[in-house]
Amino acid sequence: MDKIFLHDVLAGLNASPKTLPCKYFYDRRGSELFEKICACDDYYVTRTEMALLQEIAPQLGALLDANTALIEPGAGGLKKVSILLQAAKQLPLYAPLDISGDFLHEAAANIARHFPNLQTQAIVGDFTKQIDIDALLLAYPHITHRLIFFPGSTFGNFDPIQGQEFLQNMRHLIGNKGGMIIGVDAVKPVHILERAYDDSEGVTAAFNKNLLKRINDELGGDFNLSNFKHRAVFNQQHSRIEMHLDSMQAQNVPIGEQTIAFDAGESIHTENSYKYDVPHFTNIAGQAGFTIKQYWQDSKQYFTIFHLMV
Ligand code: TRP
Repeated sequence: MDKIFLHDVLAGLNASPKTLPCKYFYDRRGSELFEKICACDDYYVTRTEMALLQEIAPQLGALLDANTALIEPGAGGLKKVSILLQAAKQLPLYAPLDISGDFLHEAAANIARHFPNLQTQAIVGDFTKQIDIDALLLAYPHITHRLIFFPGSTFGNFDPIQGQEFLQNMRHLIGNKGGMIIGVDAVKPVHILERAYDDSEGVTAAFNKNLLKRINDELGGDFNLSNFKHRAVFNQQHSRIEMHLDSMQAQNVPIGEQTIAFDAGESIHTENSYKYDVPHFTNIAGQAGFTIKQYWQDSKQYFTIFHLMV
């Protein structure tokens, strides 16, 4: 049994209000469900960002010249970064960065297979801390600029303080020349936001409830999944979508040797997705030491891709 998982779950469920850490969403089934969310009609985020990336690919490609390394924290999927790489024929180096070595080497190998002329350099590191890659790049003396790619509105899953810390860490990683291409979801009408996080096919609900299933399967929990309801709500004050699992009745749920008591209607807060308008994000980026070189939006202004410069 994963003791840290158990510890985190019990800490969250004994807190008031109850929470569960979102990093546990992504087991195998969770990752598959997330892929499905990205394909849902109601989830505009992925579709909008992909189309925007395609549209601005030539401009992004021009930034990725022969003296630049492209660094991707979170070693994401192949799809988004491929759009950049196809437009960047001169790029000498792609460096995925992840805390998990397994994921990372898979990502690097995948890219290397699709772009045989590109060198890849995996960086094992935790982007919630300062990362130094000067020594790693000594082998590439012609590389003078570092461009970080952080798509997917993953930035929105940090709270604003964590977000600023993350940007400061990226600022440190870049050193004195380079910048960032970052995807940020915009504020928009509430019904569109809430639909995106509570899609009509029920995929996001299944994704959220998968956390409870993991607790049952891996930690000896006894959640009855049909006694909980997925809820997504936009919190205006914090400019964020909140994801909850609401207990539909008073109930006691055993987890290992403990029992967690739920009131009727009591919620477990599982995730936030912050939404930023351009001035708000500009301010946070500015406090982390970046200036906005340029930004692009789709015609509905649902999503923004920023080019930050140091
Ligand atoms: N970065 C994505 C977002 O905030 C992640 C995400 C989409 C997500 N749907 C989700 C996270 C549902 C948890 C639950 O848009």
